[in-house]
Amino acid sequence: MFNKSIDNIKVFKVCDYAEMSNLAAEILISEVKNNPNIVLGLATGGTPEGMYKKIVEDHKLNNTSFEGVTSFNLDEYVGLTGDNETSYRHYMDEHLFNHVNINKENTFVPFGVSEDLSQGCLDYEATMKELGPINLQILGIGGNGHIGFNEPGTSFESITHVIDLDQSTIEANARYFNSIDDVPKKAVTMGISTIMRSEKIILLASGASKLDAVTKLLKGEISEDMPASVLRKHPNVIVIVDEEACPEL
Ligand code: PGA
Repeated sequence: MFNKSIDNIKVFKVCDYAEMSNLAAEILISEVKNNPNIVLGLATGGTPEGMYKKIVEDHKLNNTSFEGVTSFNLDEYVGLTGDNETSYRHYMDEHLFNHVNINKENTFVPFGVSEDLSQGCLDYEATMKELGPINLQILGIGGNGHIGFNEPGTSFESITHVIDLDQSTIEANARYFNSIDDVPKKAVTMGISTIMRSEKIILLASGASKLDAVTKLLKGEISEDMPASVLRKHPNVIVIVDEEACPEL
């Protein structure tokens, strides 16, 4: 493994997806052991699946306890309830929550269905303020540089809000739906300033489709056109990136 600091970001370059997943799981598990009442910020998508698998394996093998853990997820599709198989609540139940001893009442995922989504966003922020801060936030990165569902152009000052998904995001996520027409066009997402309040952040990136975004994150301008670039202003960020997604450093 190769590592290097760029601005405040510690970059760990690993061989492949498996190594990325193992390292991320190792760090998360050790943080949970150090602080059994940790507040985690969690991500969905293809990237963290391997990490969750490792965490579940470790829980079975070593009994690492999640009893005191609280979690907040980054985002949810507008229009999908938690029992919908393509919702992020369902993803989290399937990939993690159903397999470890976390108290489901302490797992928070934004509501994608509500009479008043804007109020729901404010309520989500209030709950995070009450139970937070988030001690460790896990992030993926979109091919367009989004973090959470904060698409290019989102204000760095944003808090949890409703966002129109970019066409490129809809296309990238269509693989989880029967057809591209079924992909929701909007989502609720933690804002960029919400994410930046986390004490520590780990961003994961794997595969050639992320190379451009990771290059801009590490070497481009810090700009709202490249949401992930804001992380260069955060004091405690680790990027775990595999060969295919990593630019020359
Ligand atoms: P992926 O999505 O993990 O499915 O590639 C990452 C993201 O869009 O943030």
